[in-house]
Parts: sequence; C-alpha cells; structure tokens
Amino acid sequence: MPQFGTAWITGASTGIGQELSKKLLSQGTRVAMTARHADKIHAFRDSLPASQQTLVLPLPADVANHDALSRAYAKLKDFWGAPDLLVANAGTHINMQASQIDWVPCRDLLSINLLGAVDCITFVLPDMLARKSGYIAGVGSLSAYRGLPWAAAYGASKAGLNNFLQSLRFDVETHGITVSAINPGFVQTPLTDRNPFPMPMKISAEKAAEYIWTGLLKKKKEIHFPPAFSWSFKLLRILPYPMYHALIRKITGSASRRE
Ligand SMILES: NC(=O)c1ccc[n+]([C@@H]2O[C@H](COP(=O)([O-])OP(=O)(O)OC[C@H]3O[C@@H](n4cnc5c(N)ncnc54)[C@H](OP(=O)(O)O)[C@@H]3O)[C@@H](O)[C@H]2O)c1
Repeated sequence: MPQFGTAWITGASTGIGQELSKKLLSQGTRVAMTARHADKIHAFRDSLPASQQTLVLPLPADVANHDALSRAYAKLKDFWGAPDLLVANAGTHINMQASQIDWVPCRDLLSINLLGAVDCITFVLPDMLARKSGYIAGVGSLSAYRGLPWAAAYGASKAGLNNFLQSLRFDVETHGITVSAINPGFVQTPLTDRNPFPMPMKISAEKAAEYIWTGLLKKKKEIHFPPAFSWSFKLLRILPYPMYHALIRKITGSASRRE
C-alpha cells in the first residue's frame, strides 16, 4: 500500500519535480504531472517501466493560467478523484539586476511562483477539507528567509509562499490536513544551469527528491536542505539586519555590483 494513493506534482517536466515524481512512482503512487511542456512529460512517461507508465497522468497546464489549471484539475478528479498529496513545485527564476527590475518580469515571476502555487492549493483544499485528510506541500527556497542580491521578485515570491503555507497550516491542521514548506538550497537543474555565479553546496535533483520524500514521510512543517547550508541560512536569518546586509554584501559584493 503506497504512502500516498494519488499525488499532483506541478513543475514535473524537469528537475526536482521530475525526480520527486520518480520517487513517488517507485513507491506505487499515482502521479498527475503538470507543466507547460507536455512533450517532456510524455517522454518521461515513455522512459518508465511499463508497470509505472499507467501510474502517470500527464496534466499539461500553465500554472499562471487559472482556466487551464481548472481544466487540468477537473481532468485529474475525473481520472482518479481528488489527490492525497499536492506538491506545488512549479517555479522559475530570473536573476534581475537593477536595470532589469521591471513590471512584466516581476509580475510573471510572481504569477508562477506565488499565485500559481496558491491557485493549485485552492483547487485541492475544498476536496481535502471535505475528506478531512490530505497533504499540501509548496516548494519555496532558502532565499525566502531574507532578501538577497539579484532576487527581489524571486525572494518575494518564495517568502510569500512560505508565509501562505505557515498560515494555512494553522487553519487546516485541525481538519486533518498536513502542510509543509519545502525550502531547498542550490540544486542542479535546468533552472540553476542558467546561474552565472558559483553555487555552494549544490546537490543533485535526485538527492533533493530524497530529502523531500523523507520530510514528507515525517510530515515536517519545513523541509529544508542540504542541512549544512540551510542551517547557515537560519543563522543568517537571526542576525541583526545591518549585520546581515553588510555580511551578504561582503560575500556577494563583487558579483552583485557587476552591471
Ligand atoms: N534548483 C534550485 O537550486 C532551487 C532552489 C530552491 C528552490 N527551487 C525551486 O524548486 C522548484 C523546481 O525548480 P527546479 O530547480 O527543479 O527547476 P526546473 O528544472 O527549471 O523546473 C521547473 C519546473 O516548473 C515548470 N514550470 C515553470 N513555469 C511554469 C508554468 N508557468 N506553469 C507550469 N509549470 C511551470 C517547468 O516546466 P515547463 O517549462 O514545462 O512549464 C519545470 O517542470 C521551483 O519552484 C524553484 O523555484 C529550486
């Protein structure tokens, strides 16, 4: 008997979402996979052993498009009923230096990373409340803790999602629903392949999926990793703000002034 009967993973076409899907499928969970690129989801399904292919439901959609997401969720319910687990993982990151901080890229990033995740959550929530069970997890980032250079919109989207999940947990835990915030450090994926700076303690997407799986089994309020990196972020979070700013400026100084 799998831990989760049915899971809905967004951002499942590559990176962390795809590795987590693999992990869940290997446990016998049925996985509905959402991302914009249907071809990548189908190619992933075709690469699986036959016994796992039937456990995959491709649900292509743009999480920033409410109507498309609504159709995808309706299809999921038609096929398998409401999911036991949602992992709102779809996200993007654009490094934005001063001259690139503009309305359209900021709006688009927040629409995917924050509002897209909130939209998915509001689809599953009524069904989980009615059933008095379910698990909602959202993928934030260690950059949610405090502002970092080049990441004004990204950090805000992840901080917003963390706060949303923390509040939600108060509201739904008495209704049998578990909520986790997942805050990774650097993970090797197509998203970080674009980063032009060194990424300390970067781990593989497979390792990230292992951390997430273990955290989900323990129903952790926050799943943060890799531990050596995430705990140093937690220490940085409690520094007085002027000290934090000076230290981050020193560590990242040459990079964040390069324009
Ligand atoms: N990699 C890291 O170091 C790191 C660190 C902290 C947090 N994270 C977070 O982890 C999550 C997964 O990222 P990743 O590193 O695995 O990157 P990735 O490989 O680029 O995966 C991002 C996923 O999100 C999907 N996606 C992007 N925009 C979407 C949209 N509008 N609608 C639906 N799906 C969309 C992408 O698929 P399509 O392009 O097919 O839509 C892809 O499946 C993100 O939320 C990211 O912010 C990553």
